[in-house]
Amino acid sequence: MSLLDGRIAIVTGAGSGLGREHALALAAHGATVVVNDLDEAGAAETVKAITAAGGHADAFIGSVSDWDRAGAMVQHAIETHGDLHILVNNAGFTRDAMSFSMTEEQFDQVVNVHLKGHFAPMHHTVTYWRNQAKAGDEQARRIINTTSESGLFGGAGQTNYGAAKGGIITMSIAIARETQKYGVTVNVIAPRARTGITAEAHWAQPPEDPAEFDRFHPGNASPLVVWLASDDAAHVNGQTFIVGSGVVVRMKRHSAIGEIRKDGRWTPEELTARADELLAGWDPGVPAFEAPQF
Ligand SMILES: NC(=O)c1ccc[n+]([C@@H]2O[C@H](COP(=O)([O-])OP(=O)(O)OC[C@H]3O[C@@H](n4cnc5c(N)ncnc54)[C@H](O)[C@@H]3O)[C@@H](O)[C@H]2O)c1
Repeated sequence: MSLLDGRIAIVTGAGSGLGREHALALAAHGATVVVNDLDEAGAAETVKAITAAGGHADAFIGSVSDWDRAGAMVQHAIETHGDLHILVNNAGFTRDAMSFSMTEEQFDQVVNVHLKGHFAPMHHTVTYWRNQAKAGDEQARRIINTTSESGLFGGAGQTNYGAAKGGIITMSIAIARETQKYGVTVNVIAPRARTGITAEAHWAQPPEDPAEFDRFHPGNASPLVVWLASDDAAHVNGQTFIVGSGVVVRMKRHSAIGEIRKDGRWTPEELTARADELLAGWDPGVPAFEAPQF
């Protein structure tokens, strides 16, 4: 008996990179996987690899940010495979530029593929799950979304991507609150991996000695996706994890860190007088918080 036997999963952007690895891992643990991508050849390659390993998968080509196509993808899983239990939102791309150089198109494309491209599949999925739950179907349902450290810490040159990825975390928490009573969990991963997006990055290069642990192989993130999709993680909800290089970090986000109070409205002068107290512990050289080192 495998961890995900009998489960039906959709993985978006599963034609390459992290999405392909998630699809392979979910299938290896018994799930039937709908492999979504825009790229037909990539999706076919993933389906072929799953089938060759004895798993079950088919492809669904379409853009995650196309509202109707996202609905058709969910419908495809239900009609072709009989149900839908796991949605892994992963598809996306970057269009980096400093904010002063960024075009409207670069901003719109990235917000569209990540933020709407997460929301559209989730909207159609949770609509179905809510109806199922109301009809007495109490099966476990799982959403695993994909953010980035850019969405957590705000990377320079990625205002479009960081905003969309930050929005994905907030949206996930909101949907987790809305759907908890229907047996749904919604968690978020921020992977660090060598893929098409990061192929040039110095930190992402494979080890010189192939016998060494390949720290940034995209498959290193996939066991976390399998675990979050399984019954073993039924109690895990609304959480964000950074994952890669043998490290899994659970993030605490947006919690109070400094506070001053009075029984009335503050004046700017009073705020100046109490600013040291409000900002205690903050290094003024760093605009926000630093990413964990690994
Ligand atoms: N690689 C990293 O280190 C890293 C870090 C943080 C976050 N991420 C995120 O991980 C996810 C996967 O990225 P990756 O690194 O594997 O890159 P990738 O380019 O290898 O994979 C992305 C896939 O999404 C597909 N895609 C793009 N637009 C689509 C659309 N509209 N509809 C359907 N599919 C679409 C692409 O064809 C591609 O196959 C992305 O959300 C990315 O932002 C990656």
